[in-house]
Amino acid sequence: MSAQPEGLYTDPLGTADSAAAQIAKRTGIASHDLALVMGSGWVSAADALGAPTHEFNADEIIGFLPPSVAGHSGKIRSYEIKTATGVIRVLVFLGRTHLYEGKGIEPVVHGVRTAVKAGCKIVILTNACGGINTDYRVGQPVLIRDHISLTATSPLIGAHFLDLTDLYSKRMRTIVKGEDSSLQEGVYVHWRGPTYETPAEIKMMRAMGADLVGMSTVPEAIAAHALGAEVLGISLVTNAAAGVTGEKLNHEEVIAAGKAAADHMGALLKGVIPKLL
Ligand code: HPA
Repeated sequence: MSAQPEGLYTDPLGTADSAAAQIAKRTGIASHDLALVMGSGWVSAADALGAPTHEFNADEIIGFLPPSVAGHSGKIRSYEIKTATGVIRVLVFLGRTHLYEGKGIEPVVHGVRTAVKAGCKIVILTNACGGINTDYRVGQPVLIRDHISLTATSPLIGAHFLDLTDLYSKRMRTIVKGEDSSLQEGVYVHWRGPTYETPAEIKMMRAMGADLVGMSTVPEAIAAHALGAEVLGISLVTNAAAGVTGEKLNHEEVIAAGKAAADHMGALLKGVIPKLL
């Protein structure tokens, strides 16, 4: 059960170091290569990677809060994926903490910081999102090319003036599109939530140049990049954004669309992971 000590995030990177050490001890694997964060509805896509060598509750590791959202299972898995030249150790986070949970920014980025401290040079962030771009269809994966942060929250503190020009790695986007040439790229807006956007807000976002909207990914991408990891973001369009079809939005629809697309998303991840390192 979760028994997290006081003052957990007064030294966030130190806490991430301790968490990485606990994962290494738990799995017997000194260093992982790649991390995969599975967002709403993506959890079953992880099953396409086969049987994990280890699985445990995330909140048994220092700094991880228990899950508070349906569709976010709060587990950590370790996988060994065989490639033509060796093995890739993949650390999978089933679920994440969101800003709208009101616990602050530190637990939101603790998973990716832990992953980088555990050795991961590549972080793949997946999410469920609303489609602002009317060309998108429900069930379609879209590669994140860039983002717009509307939360005015950064995981970085102090004079850390980080360049975000190539935050969502062009190198990796090219590799993924080589695997599936039908994949499109889009600009993701980070919305704090937990309310969905109003139709007027979606119009504003579209006018700003956004294609996708969701409540995650952006702080994690920044935190991972700040520690030197290469980031790939994949959004699954689970619904048309507010006002696009006139239909009301609900979380069950988001989860159901994720489940329906799980096989496709799982196959995509399984196909690309060996090519990224
Ligand atoms: N808006 C914000 N977040 C979301 C949406 C949406 O329409 N769908 C899934 N996550």
